[in-house]
This record gives sequence, C-alpha cells and structure tokens, in this order.
Amino acid sequence: MSDVTTTEPLLDVRDVAVHFPIKRGLVLDRTVGHVYAVDGVTLTVARGETYGLVGESGCGKSTLGRAILRLVDPTAGSILFDGTDVATLRGEELRRMRRRFQMVFQDPLSSLDPRQSVESLLLEGMKAHGLSKGPEADDARLRELVQQVGLPVSALRRYPHEFSGGQRQRIGIARALCVEPDLIVADEPVSALDVSVQAQVLNLLGRLQRELGLTYLVIAHDLAVVRHVSDRIGVMYLGGIVEEAPSQALYDDPQHPYTRALLSAVPVPDPELEDRRERILLTGDLPSPAAPPAGCRFHTRCPWRQPTRCDDERPQLRVVDGAAEGHRVACHFAEDIRSGVLQPHRVEAVATDDVLAAASVPELPGSVNEILGR
Ligand SMILES: Nc1ncnc2c1ncn2[C@@H]1O[C@H](COP(=O)(O)OP(=O)(O)OP(=O)(O)O)[C@@H](O)[C@H]1O
Ligand code: SF4
Ligand SMILES: [Mg+2]
Repeated sequence: MSDVTTTEPLLDVRDVAVHFPIKRGLVLDRTVGHVYAVDGVTLTVARGETYGLVGESGCGKSTLGRAILRLVDPTAGSILFDGTDVATLRGEELRRMRRRFQMVFQDPLSSLDPRQSVESLLLEGMKAHGLSKGPEADDARLRELVQQVGLPVSALRRYPHEFSGGQRQRIGIARALCVEPDLIVADEPVSALDVSVQAQVLNLLGRLQRELGLTYLVIAHDLAVVRHVSDRIGVMYLGGIVEEAPSQALYDDPQHPYTRALLSAVPVPDPELEDRRERILLTGDLPSPAAPPAGCRFHTRCPWRQPTRCDDERPQLRVVDGAAEGHRVACHFAEDIRSGVLQPHRVEAVATDDVLAAASVPELPGSVNEILGR
C-alpha cells in the first residue's frame, strides 16, 4: 500500500457502460439483446494509489479494466486519464497514451511470445514507444528491468517457457514496466499461482509501486488478494459497484448485503471468532448480465430485500450515516441493515432468463498485442 499524497485523480471513470450486442442468425447480423457487462460505473484512482476491484466471475471486472485501457470501447460515459478522455483518442495519440497505461495478465504466457527471449520481448516494448537509446543504454536498462522484478541478469537470454509460473509473472511485470507506465491494470495477477508464490508477486508489486510511484487497479475475485494490496476497494455486482471503501473499513464494517455475504464466506483463523462470525449463504445463481434484474440488481438474492423499492428502484452509491470517510454503499436500506432494525430473511431461488445460452458471444476484442503496442 502507498501513501497517497495528491488529491487529483490519475484515473477518473464516470458513468461508464460497456454493452455487448448479442447476435443471432446464420450470418450473425441480427442483434437480439445486449450483455450489460459494465453498466454505470463511476470511480477514481488517485496517483500512487492501489484500487482493488472484486466480485464474482462475470460481474464485469475485466471488461471495465479493458475499457479503461481502451481495449474495448465504452458504450457510454467518460474515462479521464490524467485529464484526457481516452475514449476520444485515435491513432497516434492513442498509441502514445497507451504507453502510460499497461496491463498485467493472469496468464503471463498468453501475453508473452514464446519464440522471443526475455531480452527481445522487453526491447520490443521499448522500441515500440521510442524508448530505445542505443545498444549500451538499452543493455543497462534491460539489466535494470530484470533486477527490478527480482530476476537474475541471465534471465534476459532465456525464453518464457523456461521459467516457473511466478517467474513468468515477473517477466510479465517487467514487460509492463519497460515502457515506464503510470497506471498498471493487473487483472487477476496471482490467480494462476501457488499461494506461497502469490505473496511474493504481490510484495513485488508493492515494492515497485513505492520505488516507481506507480498507480494500480488490481482486479481479483479473491478478497484476500485485494485486501492486502489495496488502499481502497470497490465491490462489483452485475456490472455496477455496490460498495466502495478504504480497504480496512470495508473489512471491518461491510454494509452492502452482497459484501457481507462475500466476507462471511472467508474463514477466520481464530477458532473463537470463526464460531461467532456471521454467515450469509447466497441462494440462487448470479443472474445473467444479459437480463439483469430491475431495481437493485442484487434483489433476487438479497436476504434483506424489501417490497417494493428494492425491485423497482436502482440504488445509487451513497454515503451512509456514521460510516468511515469515503465509504459508499448502493443499498436503499443500508442504515436499517447496519443497525439491525431489518433482519435477514429466507430467499427463494429465482430462475433467471439466460439470453446468453442461445446466443453467440464473440471473442474478446482488444488483443494482447494491441495493449503491448506491438
Ligand atoms: N466481447 C464480449 N462479447 C460479449 N460478451 C462479453 C464479451 N466480453 C465479456 N462478455 C461478457 O460480459 C460479462 C462480464 O465479463 P468479464 O470478463 O468482464 O467478467 P469478470 O468479472 O472479469 O469475470 P471473471 O472473474 O470470470 O474474469 C460476462 O457475462 C461475459 O461473458
Ligand atoms: S437495495 Fe434492497 S435488495 Fe438491494 S441490497 Fe439493499 S436491501 Fe438488498
Ligand atoms: Mg475477468
């Protein structure tokens, strides 16, 4: 975690939506609906800050990350990066801006060309953005890069498949760093790694942030991962942020029923606390993002759902009385849930209408090469 010193955000995401058309028919030319992958997200990330984004699979985390990096075009809203709306950039302007925001992927092998040595991978990134300064300077820079990510200089001559998972992620991080970015979007950066290696890679990200003044958006489905690295955390559910708070406040005082359910599923090491801790089991499947429930998107699974406001009116993120500074919740009844006036009740599972099942979902647009500036 970092000391956040300035208040002007590096990243300012306002009301962003990403809706993917669902096509059907032999030649896929008929739009039969939309996947509301991201649907009205507003968040800011300060310079030097780490913002953690968590939520179940399919809630739109990666799509939001991709929209921020302009790997998919937002359907609505604005994404200001250092004051410039990235959605308006084209051609050379966009390419130049891309140097400043980089991505670290879950599976580093998918983003690293197996035929290229580490040296060639890094040099390619530097050259793509005009950062190559001649053989001697480049050589020094390459050595510095691998050492910065905790690899020996000899790693430069080797190929990605020769390394372990954790080492490959270090190369993926060096690949992002070689263009001297300001923002790194790390999408599930440690999910594919053994637990012991996860901590090493997270510690490395923390050290690099302190040394280089980096800003991070860390995406993970695992609350434990974001907790340890984030200054602030946003919890996503079906395309929207339902709760946002400084990391500690979110864990000490979760207020949205969905966050409470997520946290209640995380075991506590202390056996006494473990016996006493609140457990909220969510019934019913996550509804399809192609047919999100009306009103509060969580109402089909919420043990505190109230007639009829929860079904009719989508709650906005707002500050709840008595909560920590910067703690915002999208729930109409957050105060009454917090005070215990409202008690949880049984939830009947609701069948969801899955438009996606019969539709064709195209490949993710925005290739790895595009973001790496190849
Ligand atoms: N190019 C696309 N076309 C159509 N639908 C898409 C596209 N990309 C993503 N989706 C859909 O958008 C929704 C959100 O996907 P996304 O990958 O952003 O979720 P996620 O939160 O990152 O999930 P995970 O934790 O599994 O990585 C999913 O229903 C997904 O199938
Ligand atoms: S608005 Fe209603 S359904 Fe949504 S989280 Fe709050 S109580 Fe539950
Ligand atoms: Mg994802």
